[in-house]
Amino acid sequence: MPDFICDNISVNAAGRLCFAGQDTTALAARYGTPLYLMDEDRLRHNMRIYTQAFQRCFGPGSRVLYASKANAFRQIYRIAGEEGLGVDVVSPGEIHSAHSAGFDMALAYFHSNNKTDADIRYAMDCGVGCFVVDGEEELRAIDAAAAARGTRQKLLLRLTPGIDPHTYAAVDTGRVDSKFGSAIETGQAEAITALALSLEHIDLAGFHCHVGSMVFDEDVFQRAAAVMLEFVAMVQKKYGFLARELDLGGGYGVPYTAADGSVDIGARIGEVAEYIHQTCARLSIAEPAILMEPGRSIVADAGMTLYTVGAVKRIPGYKTYVSVDGGMSDNPRYALYGAKYTCYTAGRMAEPAALRCDLVGRCCESGDVIQPDVCLAEGTCRGDIAAVCTTGAYNYSMASNYNRIPRPPIVMLRGGESYVAVRRESLADLVMLDE
Ligand code: LLP
Repeated sequence: MPDFICDNISVNAAGRLCFAGQDTTALAARYGTPLYLMDEDRLRHNMRIYTQAFQRCFGPGSRVLYASKANAFRQIYRIAGEEGLGVDVVSPGEIHSAHSAGFDMALAYFHSNNKTDADIRYAMDCGVGCFVVDGEEELRAIDAAAAARGTRQKLLLRLTPGIDPHTYAAVDTGRVDSKFGSAIETGQAEAITALALSLEHIDLAGFHCHVGSMVFDEDVFQRAAAVMLEFVAMVQKKYGFLARELDLGGGYGVPYTAADGSVDIGARIGEVAEYIHQTCARLSIAEPAILMEPGRSIVADAGMTLYTVGAVKRIPGYKTYVSVDGGMSDNPRYALYGAKYTCYTAGRMAEPAALRCDLVGRCCESGDVIQPDVCLAEGTCRGDIAAVCTTGAYNYSMASNYNRIPRPPIVMLRGGESYVAVRRESLADLVMLDE
């Protein structure tokens, strides 16, 4: 039996793959495929690792914000609310999803490097508590929108600390030449801070940075915190402004295959906190409330995708393709980033994993690969269920209707029960917007 990458994966006596203790072949039969599963107990467990570490390590006002771009649907906002997390939202769509789910929008932080005037108004209408501001035009637009309402808008300024997190380019965001934020090194961070302090309808609460995603390096958050706290100290000295909040962004990586390392998040946060306490003491500044915005490390291993196998195409002397009834439309991450995944034939866990193949989707292009070079059970054939592990992050939220394929439902697993959180898209849904 393989060593599973997360302890919510197991095999039952009948040799079937289980997720959150439930037989995945039975779930596939009940709900159909393709199917996103989400282990609610694991999700809550992952949230609590953060909230408990924060309670232990940081002062009042400190908070974990779930980065909902990793997986956004109403039920996940409700769960985040129940677990005491705030949320990071990046679009009117995420704001609407959270708001209409009854999430307390005072705890929502609105990101994005290009908020339109309409976005800003909509966020204010929904009572979004804090904006995370990327640049000067946006700052002025928020000031004007708040002035029109006769209010002051709380915000953080997003800064780029100039840190290389050693991850892949598409998610590397903390460097000086990033499209996000104002760089400290170029003086733009100081200029926008001075501007924010001069605007009547702006309540500057502090600063934000996000260095990247899939971060494994041990000291990345310490390095980012050091640069940011030096900046906080400089601003205090020069402008008499004391930052109340410092948001260090998201980014801890998760294992997708047995070859990947894992991060002990509770322990890491303890180390970051210790470093922040010492640095604030050294700089003689009051410690701001600390925020973090984890996405992937909260949802990734709470997810699994099930597909039904269609064709098993053997090309003698070349390779074998196993095609399933989903693909890059529900999981574009291999096509986009060369992302790795662990895959199984759910009903054949007792068989040797001897079928070396490319697991591919049903979309009309060769790039539609879910994972190349995987070993499925040797007897894998049409009608079997293929399972792809660790798909909770950036799968549903990046899914598309490419080839007019309806998006799969999300079924939550909780305490041995299951329920639909997002229903399956129908063919009627696909033409709903067409005139
Ligand atoms: N905060 C900010 C400002 C972010 O931009 C992100 C991710 C996060 C927090 C959450 O980072 P996490 O904890 O999930 O690493 N689509 C890519 C990942 C893009 C990450 C974008 N920003 C993927 O599938 O790997």
